[in-house]
Amino acid sequence: MRTQVGIVGAGPAGLLLAHLLHRAGIDSVVLEARSRPHIEGRIRAGLLEQGSVDTLVEAGLGDRLLREGLAHDGLELRFDGGSYRIDLHGLTGRRVTIYGQQEAVKDMVAARLETGRPLHFEVGDVTLHDIATGHPRITWTADGVAQELRCDIIAGCDGFHGPSREAMPPELLRVYERVYPFAWLGILAEAPPISHELIYARHAEGFALATMRSASLSRLYLQCAPDEDLSLWPDGRIWESLVTRLGAVNEGRVIQKGVTGMRSFVAEPMRHGRLFLAGDAAHIVPPTGAKGMNLAVADVRVLAAALTSFFRDGDTALMDRYSDICLKRVWKVQRFSWWMTSMLHRYRGDDPFEHRVQVAELDYLVHSKAAQMALAEQYVGLPYDI
Ligand code: FAD
Ligand code: DHB
Repeated sequence: MRTQVGIVGAGPAGLLLAHLLHRAGIDSVVLEARSRPHIEGRIRAGLLEQGSVDTLVEAGLGDRLLREGLAHDGLELRFDGGSYRIDLHGLTGRRVTIYGQQEAVKDMVAARLETGRPLHFEVGDVTLHDIATGHPRITWTADGVAQELRCDIIAGCDGFHGPSREAMPPELLRVYERVYPFAWLGILAEAPPISHELIYARHAEGFALATMRSASLSRLYLQCAPDEDLSLWPDGRIWESLVTRLGAVNEGRVIQKGVTGMRSFVAEPMRHGRLFLAGDAAHIVPPTGAKGMNLAVADVRVLAAALTSFFRDGDTALMDRYSDICLKRVWKVQRFSWWMTSMLHRYRGDDPFEHRVQVAELDYLVHSKAAQMALAEQYVGLPYDI
């Protein structure tokens, strides 16, 4: 088999890249380890920056997003018994949209299948070869049968645990990492959200977040231990903690429950030879601030533009700047996600100094227009370079 771009991974990064390349007349093959129902059912991120929405709409992927997405003009911060609204739209003229990642994935899978171009599910043993040459290859197995794809470029869009980053020479890769001493216990519940906007709460018992997927589906998160045992969290205990930390919630049937660890991670550079990493394959942010999927979209915008000028005009200038352009945004977003995480979570138990400093920071934020502007312009999404 031969194609121009071999794409490893059918998450938001791989699927969006395949779609943008197709629209630019560039052929690709997408290889995904899991099944279609698995990737379409995986509950993860839910909040899109205005730029991500615009990117999906401009790419012709926005029909259902514009119909079913919930546009939000603000968010609420709760701490020390008080509640404060940040007017994102008033401050920046921009808004964010709630639309489940798996819904965006469904839209992109449908768009890919409509093109008739290959998207292979449940592939095994994906291995990258000759990435430093002009003729890289990917081998894999499908139903136990060995396959090979020859390509001009490989896009590693296979998430944090995929093989692409591992294929880079370790001596050339610099890794920056911070693992947080807590995680999020998340539930999806058949209950109307308590507010039409998101509520981020700092509480002496730990962080909590009330978000949603629709007018009848709440998504709720609680700070918990990194190795939290879910069997110790029957629904009653979850609701009790949510009420303590958020003040009130609407209860309903819990239809999904899970624990997500939290880390900051960046691998540099994001390109070696003909291999380009995009999305979680190159970087992870802690979820506070909702940046993971948005960063994947931002990387792919740059990669699609770079590959288009390479295949159309033989111009490698943008490909050569790919890593630098992406990493500038990645580090700003890393800083924002780390800052939101640091301000809202309980780190060292009952350290009264930590408590006072966090409350002072939040109090400053909700009484300073300059500080609110700094939060708002990063939360709705920094402008793109490309
Ligand atoms: P992924 O979505 O991880 O896609 C990578 C794809 O590659 C997957 O489909 C995977 O199956 C496939 N793959 C892996 N290995 C191979 C292989 N060997 N061969 C072929 N394919 C392979 N972000 C937020 O902003 N808010 C949240 O609440 C939030 N919650 C999250 C919860 C969880 C459990 C996780 C894991 C992530 C969460 N994120 C959240 C982060 C966000 O979902 C990611 O940033 C986003 O999915 C990145 O997209 P991606 O396409 O780069 O990677
Ligand atoms: C969601 C997740 C986040 O991490 C966040 O900051 C906001 C919203 C969500 O799942 O809707």
